[in-house]
Amino acid sequence: MKIVIIGQGYVGSALAIAAIKAGHNVIGFDTNTKVISELKEKESNLKNYHPTNNEADLKDQDAYIIAVPTPLDENNQSDLSYLIQASKLIAKSATKGALVINESTSYPGTLREIVITEIEKINNSQFLYASAPERIDPANNKWNIKNTPRILAGIDEKSTTAALEFYKSICEEVTAVSTPEVAESAKLFENTFRQVNIALVNELAQISSKLGISANEVIAAAATKPFGFMKFNPGLGVGGHCIPIDPIYLAQKAEQLGAPAKFIRQANLVNQQMPIYVLQRLKELLDGDLKNKKICIVGISYKADVTDLRESPSLVLLKEIQNSRANVVFHDEIVKNFNDLKSAPLTPNGFDLTLVAIRHSNLAVDKVIASAPIVFDCTGSITGAHQL
Ligand SMILES: NC(=O)c1ccc[n+]([C@@H]2O[C@H](COP(=O)([O-])OP(=O)(O)OC[C@H]3O[C@@H](n4cnc5c(N)ncnc54)[C@H](O)[C@@H]3O)[C@@H](O)[C@H]2O)c1
Repeated sequence: MKIVIIGQGYVGSALAIAAIKAGHNVIGFDTNTKVISELKEKESNLKNYHPTNNEADLKDQDAYIIAVPTPLDENNQSDLSYLIQASKLIAKSATKGALVINESTSYPGTLREIVITEIEKINNSQFLYASAPERIDPANNKWNIKNTPRILAGIDEKSTTAALEFYKSICEEVTAVSTPEVAESAKLFENTFRQVNIALVNELAQISSKLGISANEVIAAAATKPFGFMKFNPGLGVGGHCIPIDPIYLAQKAEQLGAPAKFIRQANLVNQQMPIYVLQRLKELLDGDLKNKKICIVGISYKADVTDLRESPSLVLLKEIQNSRANVVFHDEIVKNFNDLKSAPLTPNGFDLTLVAIRHSNLAVDKVIASAPIVFDCTGSITGAHQL
């Protein structure tokens, strides 16, 4: 097939590679010229891949797949402006019979209410439409586009059949559900499930601390039960593009319809407050005051082995510690630079306290232990350190 993928970021570029491997011809379109020039250089050996920011290249292709950002705006409301722009572009480029797919995460109803509505304002040709939410997990070595089961749904049988045909060429397992709204809701519910369970163990960490026991030991003990329990680990909070944001999309839609979303809102609050809770714990360990204390935060991306800083709780903690007038630095050999700061070396006894927020696989744990008399570990993986 001749495919256009709109958005060549994390999701769109991975999809492009998967589609090329399956024998399709791919035009990867992105509005960011830097993204395109980097891809042109990096993927120059791929004959069937054409990264571009020229809208004229998108005319008359078989399928148009949207993979653009769906963030929150400054008022914490869903920001669908990128999706609207992408839809307008498809309306200007596609001809009758083209398959239009949305992979971007958004609330149930987005395909019909936003994508189709925007396209039909400009172009009244008959298109096939489907929703096929992406499930990719950055830095996961086991699960990728090919072996992660995909769910999708078209607006009618013909659309579903066309979408199934494409995804079966790149994924081992594809399931069609009855409507795009089911597919869109399933994606949001998967991430909400994680968000709520992470909030629950984060609350357990706070309860266990007051009880004077280890939350990690409690969770490991509960996880010996072979049924009715699934293990989640507490942490400094949640970050990235998915867990802090997707549940808000679901909550907003629910509230618009007059349905409750109290669990989702509460889980969000618990996770957002974790850096503040940890700040309090650090104060207790440093005699009540952080002023002039030398503190190092280890790991500032939102999860291990990625450079992505979006919504990272480490950055919230960093700011809080700065506001407490401590002398704070960070150590992260993957991110390396953040604003004017550079990753600081873990010198022996270089700090009053070292906090491990994220543990990248290249982290030298012995250096962490030697770097301060007090080590606070949010990852639950460093023996002998203070735990959440
Ligand atoms: N990253 C993940 O782990 C992940 C997992 C599952 C789903 N998703 C979802 O996939 C979508 C894309 O996420 P991402 O991580 O790839 O984002 P990203 O920020 O890495 O990439 C998005 C790209 O889209 C480009 N873009 C923005 N507006 C555009 C437009 N009008 N036309 C063309 N290009 C445009 C941007 O320049 C950027 O390069 C989001 O809805 C996200 O929630 C992401």
